[in-house]
Order: sequence, then C-alpha cells, then structure tokens
Amino acid sequence: FRTLRWAWRLGYLSAIAGVAYIGYGIYEDRHPEPQTEPDPTKKTLVILGTGWGSVSLLKRLDTENYNVIVISPRNYFLFTPLLPSCTTGTIEHRSIMEPIRTILRSKKASVRFYEAEASSIDPDRKVVRIFDNSEVKGDMTETEVPYDMLVVGVGAENATFGIPGVREHSCFLKEIGDAQRIRKRIMDCVETAAFKDQSPEEINRLMHMVVVGGGPTGVEFAGELQDFFEEDIKKLVPEISDRFRVTLIEALPNVLPSFSKQLIEYTESTFKEEKINIHTKTMVKKVTDKTVEAVATRPDGTKETIVFPYGLLVWATGNAVRPVVQDLMSRVPAQKNSRRGLAVNEYLVVQGARDIWAVGDCAVAGYAPTAQVASQEGNFLARLFNNMARTEALESKIAELSGSLNIQPGNTAEISREIEEYERQLRRIKDVKPFHYSHQGSLAYIGSEKAVADVTWFNGNVAAAGGLTYLFWRSAYISMCFSTRNRLLVINDWLKSKLFGRDLSRE
Ligand code: FAD
Ligand code: NAI
Repeated sequence: FRTLRWAWRLGYLSAIAGVAYIGYGIYEDRHPEPQTEPDPTKKTLVILGTGWGSVSLLKRLDTENYNVIVISPRNYFLFTPLLPSCTTGTIEHRSIMEPIRTILRSKKASVRFYEAEASSIDPDRKVVRIFDNSEVKGDMTETEVPYDMLVVGVGAENATFGIPGVREHSCFLKEIGDAQRIRKRIMDCVETAAFKDQSPEEINRLMHMVVVGGGPTGVEFAGELQDFFEEDIKKLVPEISDRFRVTLIEALPNVLPSFSKQLIEYTESTFKEEKINIHTKTMVKKVTDKTVEAVATRPDGTKETIVFPYGLLVWATGNAVRPVVQDLMSRVPAQKNSRRGLAVNEYLVVQGARDIWAVGDCAVAGYAPTAQVASQEGNFLARLFNNMARTEALESKIAELSGSLNIQPGNTAEISREIEEYERQLRRIKDVKPFHYSHQGSLAYIGSEKAVADVTWFNGNVAAAGGLTYLFWRSAYISMCFSTRNRLLVINDWLKSKLFGRDLSRE
C-alpha cells in the first residue's frame, strides 16, 4: 500500500508538472519578449523555404548575429507526417500547420519574411529573384533580394516521369491543398455514385480509389482511406458500400521498399485483410480522366496491359527537382552531373558555389529525402552559423586587444591573458565536425489501427508492427509536433473522430 501511495503521489506530481509546463509554454508564446531590430550592418542571411530543413535551422539560429530574411510561398510550417490523416478528416488541416509569423516572433532578433517564390538564384551577383504568386497582388510583384549567405531549402516537387495525363487528372499528396482536394474528391465520388439511377458500371468506377506508388506516402494514404470507408462511409452511405475498393499500384516487386522484409510482408498481409488490392511489378504508363493504364509483369516474365477505371486517383511516386533548383544547377558547372538535386559537401555547402548551402529534399547529401534528414541538416546549419558568428566576434576582439598591446604597455600581462582566453574559446568553437546523420528509425501507419516501425535501438535495428506500434506511432508524432498548440489540436481531432466519426460534408 505504501508503494501504491508513493506511485500515486508521483503520478499526481508529474501531472501537475506536465500541466504547468504546457501552461508556461502557452503563456510564453502569447507574451513574447520584445525583439531587437535586424542589424543591416550584419551579414544578410537569406533562407528559402519554410519546410522541415529551413524551420529547423530558424528554430536554433541566433538571429541577432545576422540580418535574416526568409522567403517562401507558404507562410506556415507543415507537419507532413500527419498529412495523410487530413485527406479523410481524421485530422483537420490547420492542426498540423504552424504560422511562420509565430515561429519568427519567438526569435530574439526580428526576422523579415516575404511570402514569395524564388524563381532564380544568381550566384555571381549574389541575388535571388522572387515573385508574388498569391491571389492578391500589389504594384510590386517581382524583385531581387541580395544575400551574403544563402540557404536553399525549397524541398522537391512531385515526380510524374512525364507520364501522359498524370498532371491533368490525378491528385498529389504533398501540400495541405492536395489533402483538401482529395478529401473533397472522395466525398464527391461517393455522392455521385449514390446519384439516382447511376449505372452499376459507373458506381464501380466512381467507388474505385486508385493509388499509384507503394512508398510510405501511397501506403499510408491507402490505409487511411480504407479506415475512412470502414468506420464512416460504410455506415452512413450503406447503399453503395459493397462497391468501394482501394487499389495500390507499385512498379517494384513489393511495397515499402525502404522497410525491412518482415514489415513489408506484414503490410502486404494486412492490406489483404483490409481488402486493399496490391498490384506490384505494375508500371503505370498512361492516365486518362477515367482510367489508369499499366503494364504488369507476370511471374513468367511476360507483360500484360491492365486498365483500371477510377473515381479518385492519387499519384505518390516520389520526388522531382524544383525549377529554381534546376536553374541554379545549370548555372554552376560543378553541378553538371547531379540529377536529383544540389550536390552538397559534408558541411552542406553547394558544390561549386560560394556562400550557398542546401538542406532537405533539394540537397543531395547521400541520405533519403525525409523530414528526419532535413531537420537534422537544419539543426547542423544553425550550429554552424552560430559558430561562424561567434568565431568572427572572437577574432575581431583578439585583433582589437592585440592592437592595444602596444598602446597600453602597463597592462600587457592582463591583455595577454584575455587574448589567450579568447583564443582558447576560438579553438573550441572553430572545430565544427562535418554533418553526420543519425537515423532514429522509420514509422508508417498502415490502417486498421496498425503501424510498422523500423527503429534504431542501441546501434541495432528493431522491427515492430501491429496495434502497440500504432500507439508508439501516435505518441512519437505527438511529441514531434511543432508546438503545444499543434499537439493539443491533433489530440482533439483524434478524440473527435473517434467519438463522433469523421465529417462527411464535402466542403
Ligand atoms: P519541405 O518540407 O517540402 O519544404 C519546402 C519549403 O520550400 C516549403 O515551405 C515550400 O513552400 C518552399 N518552397 C517551394 N518552392 C519554393 C521557391 N521557389 N522559393 C522559395 N520557397 C519555396 N518524412 C519523414 O521523415 N517521416 C514521415 O513520416 C514523413 N511523412 C511524409 C508524409 C507525406 C505525405 C509527405 C509528402 C512527405 C513525408 N515525409 C516524411 C517526407 C518529408 O515531408 C520531407 O522529406 C520533408 O518535408 C523535406 O523537408 P524540406 O525542408 O526539404 O522540404
Ligand atoms: P517513394 O519514392 O518512397 O516511393 C514512390 C514509389 O512509386 C516507388 O516505390 C516507385 O517504385 C513507385 N513508382 C514510381 N513510378 C511508378 C509508376 N509509373 N507506376 C507505379 N509505381 C511507380 O515516394 P513517397 O512515398 O512519396 O516518399 C517520398 C519520401 O518521403 C521518401 O523518402 C519517404 O521515405 C518519405 N516519406 C516517409 C514517410 C514515413 O516515414 N512514414 C511517409 C511519407 C513519405
């Protein structure tokens, strides 16, 4: 009983500490300290993008050391790991967005933000050309921003491999607008299938949801879609429920190629139970407004063309290089052989360019294009830039003190001691090790409250799958959410969809 009493007291105290911590976090966000103005005499550091790489850099950067300017067409940070859940309304889209203005307001020295897209970078003149691509336009819509240092963190766009019809007819899943479009389209298909006197063939087509790409994006989306159907659509629109089908098409022999073999098998068998059709070794060649044409390789090696009629088509076949990055690559001869993005060295410096660094999906550093890599790269650059600023400050102090040695001969010993101390600090901070990525593991939701995880544990790899892994997936993503506000909103959304079901309204 004594142990129980102590455990209860400990739990009670931890709960109070937790609530106090959250409360303090909220209070701090709502009452930020006054900011110092940007100092134009300092070096201008321009950061492109407000994604994982750029925001991780901003979070840790001592902005008082630079004149910082952020440029992005998106004035918010998006927590992409929970984006598939927005396509079915399990999570509302605003719950995983964090306004960049809130992020910048928490910095010690203020940072300028321009909502604009960078169209080109001139590495010789050290300027970025930007334009306003939003709906509301002022007199000025295009201009140049000069930089002393530039970080490119513009991410990647959707790969289509030039396959005809993909851009015109399919939905992607990269941005918040994509998730909203998919959510609307699912309900449009359902309501159109339920339209009076709709033919059985047309109902079959409309209720067929096709996903191309068996990477983590395609798999997570297929799982979310099947949940939506099983838990909500089936109950509320029963007349068409036996026609609903999800098909996942993958060119390689299996889905989730980056996960371990047993997790691939677990995912494929779970999909079979969930009645998600998987077509592996099937390469999509053409898309029309109502069909997907693919070539499948049979076990005996022969080929077969399959036509899939669809109501909703989601295209998730990975990343392609953005035009602004392609343009920069064409201007730097050292980037001639790079295909998948900006080749960077171990300090994330763009090879062949002066004072340009790249992070995240647009950089080729030898790692997978994931949020985990992008955020570690952003953190690394923040450390590097903070160190560079401190190095410069110490070097100028040493130069100043060395100059005064001749003017104040009486204080020589004291000044020499000071110089030595500064030199010691300088040696310590100057020694920045190259970027090293530390892989924490991979997680993916596969539907039916199951997840798969390849987690790094004491230098080894642990593969886990199932319901407990799903709880781990949820707690990991809650802890990784950008802010306390995001965390509370996501928990609220999960509770809401569990208690009341997902919202089937189309808007
Ligand atoms: P992004 O986060 O894409 O940010 C790019 C930024 O640049 C955006 O703000 C964009 O608006 C801006 N931008 C674009 N063009 C320009 C321009 N011309 N000028 C200026 N700014 C520009 N990874 C994981 O590790 N775990 C996961 O669970 C996971 N889940 C994912 C789920 C989905 C649905 C998707 C699509 C991806 C997922 N990823 C996940 C991958 C991860 O989101 C990316 O690797 C990560 O976003 C890359 O970060 P980034 O900063 O390079 O680019
Ligand atoms: P991906 O590149 O991982 O997978 C795309 C898949 O599409 C490939 O398996 C490819 O074989 C297939 N494909 C390409 N062309 C095809 C065609 N014509 N027909 C049929 N299949 C075709 O892309 P994805 O899933 O968008 O992920 C992008 C990045 O984001 C990856 O690095 C991934 O690890 C990361 N990510 C991580 C998540 C997680 O950890 N939970 C979730 C989502 C993305």
